[in-house]
Amino acid sequence: MGPSGRVVGIDIADIEPFGDDANVIAIQGDLLEPGVDARILAALGGLADVALSDAAPKLTGVRATDRAREETLLEAVEALLPKLLRPGGALILKLLESPEAQAAAKRIGRCFGSAKIVGLRATRAGSSEKYLIGKNYAAGA
Ligand SMILES: C[S@@+](CC[C@H](N)C(=O)[O-])C[C@H]1O[C@@H](n2cnc3c(N)ncnc32)[C@H](O)[C@@H]1O
Repeated sequence: MGPSGRVVGIDIADIEPFGDDANVIAIQGDLLEPGVDARILAALGGLADVALSDAAPKLTGVRATDRAREETLLEAVEALLPKLLRPGGALILKLLESPEAQAAAKRIGRCFGSAKIVGLRATRAGSSEKYLIGKNYAAGA
């Protein structure tokens, strides 16, 4: 990110402090909470070049519940993009694959000049984890 860049992270759980680096800011907060966009934007100081989300719900093992929670998180990220990501910006978004997540990824992907879903070699066997990579965000698309 270079000396003048800034990283802002948010998690509902406590985040261990990063030390004295003023360009790395950790927020404890809920992505589903009203007003969370303003908190993140204030910490960023402007629209972001890149949005990266590996947010994932606590899995219960009940498929319908887990899928619904994942869908809610993806919708929250989708709603935050126009408020936080600059036009032309990029997205890396973790998906736990399901028909609901696929539908959300398709919708979100349409807001980018190019979008693809990839799997990672580092993902453990049997995991449904995939990543949507979006480039060239078209705000309001
Ligand atoms: C796969 S972990 C990734 C954690 C962290 N980024 C890391 O690499 O260690 C998913 C994270 O999503 C967070 N999370 C789940 N629901 C959330 C929500 N509604 N708002 C903010 N964070 C949430 C969890 O607390 C968890 O830390």
